[in-house]
Formats: sequence, structure tokens, C-alpha cells
Amino acid sequence: MKNIVGQAARSTNFWGRPYELADIWEAIDNGSHILLCAPRRVGKTSIMYKIVDEPKANYIPIYIDTESADSEAEFWSKVFNALMEEDFIASLKTKAKNFMDQIKNINVRSITMEGVEFGDGDKLNHKQAFYRLIKDLDHDKKLIIMIDEFAQTIENIIKYEESKNAISLLKAHRELRQDQKFSQKVTFIYAGSIGLESVVSKIDAGSIGLESVVSKIDAIKHINDLNNIKVPPLTFPEAEQFTIALFKSAEIKINKTDIDHLLHTIHWLIPFYIQLITQEIKKICRRGQKLDQTVIDQAIQNALDNRNHFESWQSKLKTALGNNEYLFCKEVLNAISNQKEINLLDIMNIASKHDLNDSEAKDCLHSLIYDGYINNNDNNKTYQFNSPILRMWWNKNVAN
Ligand SMILES: Nc1ncnc2c1ncn2[C@@H]1O[C@H](COP(=O)(O)OP(=O)(O)OP(=O)(O)O)[C@@H](O)[C@H]1O
Ligand SMILES: [Mg+2]
Repeated sequence: MKNIVGQAARSTNFWGRPYELADIWEAIDNGSHILLCAPRRVGKTSIMYKIVDEPKANYIPIYIDTESADSEAEFWSKVFNALMEEDFIASLKTKAKNFMDQIKNINVRSITMEGVEFGDGDKLNHKQAFYRLIKDLDHDKKLIIMIDEFAQTIENIIKYEESKNAISLLKAHRELRQDQKFSQKVTFIYAGSIGLESVVSKIDAGSIGLESVVSKIDAIKHINDLNNIKVPPLTFPEAEQFTIALFKSAEIKINKTDIDHLLHTIHWLIPFYIQLITQEIKKICRRGQKLDQTVIDQAIQNALDNRNHFESWQSKLKTALGNNEYLFCKEVLNAISNQKEINLLDIMNIASKHDLNDSEAKDCLHSLIYDGYINNNDNNKTYQFNSPILRMWWNKNVAN
């Protein structure tokens, strides 16, 4: 197992996650469509690749990242292109020969906002075109279509196209999922680092009045049939085993006390932070220092200098939120990074400073919790960072 830092972990570098994989396969077997939820860097994409690399019999998984799609048409193009891509079609040879023969001969001329035009002149809307593509799938086989960064795509469409296109895409997917014949052939897994629910509930939030409330409820209705599966951080024993495996492959001796110190300091035990800090420990030890707690503390400080690993936590807030909401969230996070925690009363004072009412402030807090920045697990009126590593980075680079 190599110490992968940054890219999704694949094949022998993928570690563990037996429970999450079992949850997902059970939901697929039961015919559900899935929303895979976890904050950034927890390991969603790696889990999806594991499903692609080791599918159960009679399932044909395909992974599609739609993050760069800014319109409904671009989203569908990505999906159609992935299904008609040479490598994918070639992989069908051993899995679904009939389907491969049919799909190979389908020619898509263009994909626009209105729909899809096929080489034979057939013009269909996106949903019908999707049907045409998968209708010849062998009856005992099922496609697992994994759409990564789906919430980001919806957010892009709201921003660069229009809310109504986002609704239209959500609606088309809901209709496909509700169709029994379709659901026998296809399972969708939607994933992403930002909460689909919070993006969807923001649709039309700009307008005032009854319509916006109704459209908010309406929008959520388009995704409430999904089976939500959470990807949590590793448990302490899992993280311990993972750390032992990493240090073994790095050929560095680490004792139990040092592992405890490392994991207690990381606290929010996602594989990514363990790998990031292990990489820094390796660099220090390579230069002749003997591994002890001072080395671990130094490695953590060194890890914080990797701006590119953390900056998205800040830039994401900037692009996703309005000006006042961003300044509010930033000030709350600054305060927690200085004092380690903050109570609800102080949060509400910061909100009024930025002209946000109670419900707007609570929506922001909810997004910060959902997207993995903070929690109020110890006491529901006190908030702290999930990850001391992120807290230290925020404190050093944003707050001061
Ligand atoms: N099961 C795993 N085994 C080994 N390493 C892992 C595993 N899951 C995650 N990682 C580590 O965490 C990092 C992030 O993983 P991944 O890209 O899968 O997360 P993500 O939740 O999709 O992140 P993002 O929200 O940024 O897209 C990887 O670079 C790898 O270092
Ligand atoms: Mg990912």
C-alpha cells in the first residue's frame, strides 16, 4: 500500500471501508438509488472507484465526474459520452455482449439544451434518449451509474444557466428513478463534497414570498426518494490499523504511544489527514531524526504549509455563499479557530453584524455542519471544528 496523498486511492492503495461498501451494495441490491454523503476529502471517490474495480456479478458500474458541467446540456453530454466511450464499450465485451453490440452502433450527432439528435435523425429529449441508450441492456444485468460532484453541477447550472434548468435536470432524474422499468436496469449513485440538499434548498431562495417557499419544498421533493448513505471518518481502531499499515509500507518503526499521539492530535480520523502527516513524518525521518512526539508535532506543522490541500475549504465558501453569508461564516470560523469553540449567542451577534436574520444564519450554520467544517456534538449550543488540523490551518492562514 502506497501513501497516496491527494488522488483517489485505488486498487492495492485502497484501504478498508468494508462497512460503507456493504451498506452501498445492500442498497444497490435492494433497488435503491443512492446519495453518498460526506464532507470533502473523506473518501467518497475512492469508494466509488472500488465499486468500479470490484463489482459484484451482473453489475456494470461506470464512474462519471460532472463537476465541470455548467449547463444541463453539458451534464447530459458527459453522461452520454461516458456511456459511449471506447474503453467502457470494450469492457462490456465480457459483461454484456448484446448491449455492447447495440450501443456500439448508436451514433449521437448532437446534444443541446432541447435534447439529443441521433445519427439516424431521431430527436429525443434527454430522458428519452437515455432510455434509447440503455434499452438493450441484457435483462439480467444492471448498470450502476455513479455521478460524482452532482451537487456542484446543480450549483453551476443555477449560477451559469438558470434555476429552471437545475429543476428540469432534477426532475428528469427523479422521473427516471420512479420508472420501474428503468430502475430495473439502472441504479444511480450521486456523490459530492457539498450537500445536495443544501444546494437544492437554495434554489430560488433569492425571491421573496410564498412562491419561493413552495419552490424550496418542491425542489427538495425531487431528491427525497434517494437512499442517503453516509461515509464517516475512520473509527479509532480502524485508523490505528491504517496507520500501522502505512508505516509498515514506509518501513518506519512507530510505537503504540506515538500512534495514539498522532491519532489523538488528528482527532477527525479521515485517511487523508493520516496520509498527509505520515508523508511529512517520512520526510523528517529521512533526514535522520528519530520518530517521537516532537517529530509528529513538527510534521503536523509542516503539513499545514500545503496550501493546496486546505485552501478549497475557504474558496468553496467564497464561491457558494453570498457576500454577507461568506463574511458571517468566515468570522464564525475565525472565532472558533482562536477560541476552539463558540456559543450560539455569540454566533447570532456575528450574524446581526452582517445583516443576517436568525433563519439565514441557521441555514449557514447548517451548511457548515453538513459540509464538514464544524459540529455541535458535545453541547448543542456550542460549536467547534471537526478537525483540529483544519482549525490550525484556518487559524494560521485565514484568521490571522
Ligand atoms: N479507502 C481509502 N484508502 C486509502 N486512502 C484513502 C481512502 N479514502 C480516502 N483516502 C485518502 O483520502 C484522499 C481523498 O480521497 P477521495 O478523493 O476519495 O475523497 P473525496 O471524499 O472524494 O474527496 P473530495 O471531496 O475532495 O472529492 C485520497 O487522496 C487518499 O489520500
Ligand atoms: Mg471526490
